[in-house]
Amino acid sequence: MKFLITGGAGFIGGNFCHYMIEKYPYDSFVCLDALTYAGNMETLQDILDKPNFKFVKGNICDKQLVEELFEKENFDIVINFAAESHVDRSIENPKIFLESNIIGVQTLMDDCKKFGIKRYHQVSTDEVYGDLPLDRPDLFFTEETPIHTSSPYSASKASADLLVMAYHRTFKLPVTISRCSNNYGPYQFPEKLIPLIIKKAQNDEKLPVYGKGENVRDWLHVLDHCSAIDLIVRKGKDGEIYNVGGHNERTNIDVVKTILKVLNKPESLITFVTDRPGHDMRYAIDPAKIEKELGWKPIYTFDTGIVETIKWNVDNKQWLKHVESGEYLNWMQRYNTK
Ligand SMILES: NC(=O)c1ccc[n+]([C@@H]2O[C@H](COP(=O)([O-])OP(=O)(O)OC[C@H]3O[C@@H](n4cnc5c(N)ncnc54)[C@H](O)[C@@H]3O)[C@@H](O)[C@H]2O)c1
Repeated sequence: MKFLITGGAGFIGGNFCHYMIEKYPYDSFVCLDALTYAGNMETLQDILDKPNFKFVKGNICDKQLVEELFEKENFDIVINFAAESHVDRSIENPKIFLESNIIGVQTLMDDCKKFGIKRYHQVSTDEVYGDLPLDRPDLFFTEETPIHTSSPYSASKASADLLVMAYHRTFKLPVTISRCSNNYGPYQFPEKLIPLIIKKAQNDEKLPVYGKGENVRDWLHVLDHCSAIDLIVRKGKDGEIYNVGGHNERTNIDVVKTILKVLNKPESLITFVTDRPGHDMRYAIDPAKIEKELGWKPIYTFDTGIVETIKWNVDNKQWLKHVESGEYLNWMQRYNTK
């Protein structure tokens, strides 16, 4: 089978490329990525020479480029990770989120329709459900929870989900959607909570924590997310949405304290900063559907995954250094891609 993986130079897409290429040496994979600030070719460096992998630089909103690629490659399956993904950036500049996260999805699906693709999979987020109150630990997001977004980021992802379901109903496009909780693991850009705290704590810098750090996130190791998407794409039913999460709820302050403990750094580094506007209080996924219908199970607990992730960040200083210095952005000038 031939896969198009969009956004594969980002955090989750990059891990997914590694995961799939190793697991399925007889399938082939084309990665299409615009290489925004979040795209990093150094994440893909180890797999660029694999015979079943090809990288193409391009924007999913570029109708001509996308159409030519579909025509040339004859894809069976399209998995869309490409998106602007940082909530704080969506508050500063919403427009690019609407372009990449909505128009990009429409552009891809139009060609999926035109070229008779077997499956379009949209990588979505639990943030489309809004948030849950802190004093109701009995509540979880199910696939039936109404969409109720808080940020321009989550509104753009929810809009895309609605469009995906509309293409299924109107054009019978074979689609699936996964809505996953917060991911952590290797190759995550250090603007997100876990790699940011690991980086700053190692340098004995102040650790900014929004509000009182009470917000609860439901953490899933990125490789567990990858195994869920792999399963949905191969065994999931057309037109279905699958929530993905591992019941690993932690307050932000607990996450920060865990990282400090593993790195043997003092809690005095923690600094509380003014809360993010519209900050969601609690996310918590009920993954019963994917567990029961597809037999998915996460491998990592948060306690094992966080230690491994801290170790990855400590061991991969070069990758992080190039992100910090901006050196990773020059990758295309330094190397020729296939
Ligand atoms: N990070 C999380 O915790 C999380 C959780 C649930 C769902 N998601 C979703 O998973 C997907 C991937 O998230 P991530 O954390 O890896 O994001 P990321 O920001 O690390 O990576 C996004 C990638 O998409 C590329 N990209 C952005 N706009 C593009 C465009 N218009 N055309 C082509 N490429 C483009 C970027 O260059 C980058 O490589 C997103 O759709 C996000 O909404 C993320």
